[in-house]
Amino acid sequence: MSLRLRISLVILGLMALAQAMFGSAYFILQRRAELADTYNRSMETLRLAAAVCHESSLTDDWTKANSHLSFLREDPTVRYASCTDTKEPIPSGVREFSRYFELKDGSRSRARIGYNNAAVNAAVHSRLRGAIWDMASIASITLFFGLLVALFVARTLTRPIEALAKGARAVGEGDLEYRVPADGREDELETLRARFNAMAERLAETDRMKRNFIQNFTHDLKNPLSGIKACIETLHSGNSGPINGKQRKYLESSLAASERLWDYLDDMLSVMKLQTGRFPMDVQSVETARLLKEAIEGFSIRAENSLITLKVDLSPNLPSVKADEQLLRRVLDNLIANALNFTPREGTITLSAHLRDGQVRVDVHDTGPGIPKDELEEIFENFYQVERNKSRGRTPGTGLGLAVCRSIVAEHGGRIWAESPADGGTRFRFTLPVVYSGNA
Ligand SMILES: Nc1ncnc2c1ncn2[C@@H]1O[C@H](COP(=O)(O)OP(=O)(O)O)[C@@H](O)[C@H]1O
Ligand SMILES: [Mg+2]
Repeated sequence: MSLRLRISLVILGLMALAQAMFGSAYFILQRRAELADTYNRSMETLRLAAAVCHESSLTDDWTKANSHLSFLREDPTVRYASCTDTKEPIPSGVREFSRYFELKDGSRSRARIGYNNAAVNAAVHSRLRGAIWDMASIASITLFFGLLVALFVARTLTRPIEALAKGARAVGEGDLEYRVPADGREDELETLRARFNAMAERLAETDRMKRNFIQNFTHDLKNPLSGIKACIETLHSGNSGPINGKQRKYLESSLAASERLWDYLDDMLSVMKLQTGRFPMDVQSVETARLLKEAIEGFSIRAENSLITLKVDLSPNLPSVKADEQLLRRVLDNLIANALNFTPREGTITLSAHLRDGQVRVDVHDTGPGIPKDELEEIFENFYQVERNKSRGRTPGTGLGLAVCRSIVAEHGGRIWAESPADGGTRFRFTLPVVYSGNA
């Protein structure tokens, strides 16, 4: 049950309880007042009856008394009314009110009125029923407004908590720049918000320091490495003296290793720069079809050597995209290189591009081992490599290529994702915003 619902229910429950208490108290008081009123009226009726009886006795004319008594008997709660005294016991279910009066000869008699208990109670209850209705209508109106107040209070209390939860999710998902906005309150929740933001700020600061360190470190490593590469290249070229076959082999593998290290540092630097938004972009209108064809042609020799078929399937009249051509080329190179790396001999790699929902969508589909469904998101994280595919790749990677791709595509306002199609292999897809001109 959500906190908001719980708070609303508690407030409403308390209100209902208070109403039940006030309602019962009101009912008891009302009933007491009704009974007292009934008693007073009965006494008054009796007093009047005794006076009429006394008057009739003085004048020896009982017609007036008789007509008064018959009038009284018309009341449905009255069982009997008389001016004559009696020793007979009062019938059950009757409450008798009696009063002595003086007869003409100086002796005493009694005026008696017997009320039917059940009828009196029924009359009292019927009058109370009105009061109960009044109470119920007041209760439902107050409960309705109570509900509004409960919802309002619950909302005011839970809103800052929801904002904090949103912030925690954002920071947890890596958006360290997210801050929970202030909403003008000055209570414990505001303190919590301020502390949360301070914590996020510290995390962001640490993250910036880490990135700066990696960036500088990587950058500094590239200088000596380029020196080492140049020396190996010179030795390998034979310009500094003759080398034998064995030495050539060693130099070649040193060169390959230093090139891999160079690529690794390059990827690392790009990722850091792209992810901190410090990568200068040169966005222009790029002819999509040309770029895609050039990219795939760059891999034709490698594909031929591995007996892999490269296919291109482009929609006619593909519009141009808004992009930094070099960066976009890097995305394509990474995706095609991955596909080539993981696709076994005699496989097929298809590069296709279509216009979808006002964007160009590029697909790179291979017939390789595929990627497990639960890792389709994670492969875009820095350094992530699919455990199952580690032995399959021809050249060992760094796990940075797709992270670079994701940062570049995101910088272009597009989206990249991977799919595991039912018919096998892996399909990478990314979208790019289109340049709209007259006939594009
Ligand atoms: N076409 C593909 N087929 C199968 N697995 C792939 C493919 N592309 C990428 N992967 C998996 O995703 C991981 C991350 O790719 P990437 O970031 O390019 O790093 P790298 O290629 O350096 O390992 C790879 O290690 C591999 O496990
Ligand atoms: Mg790669």
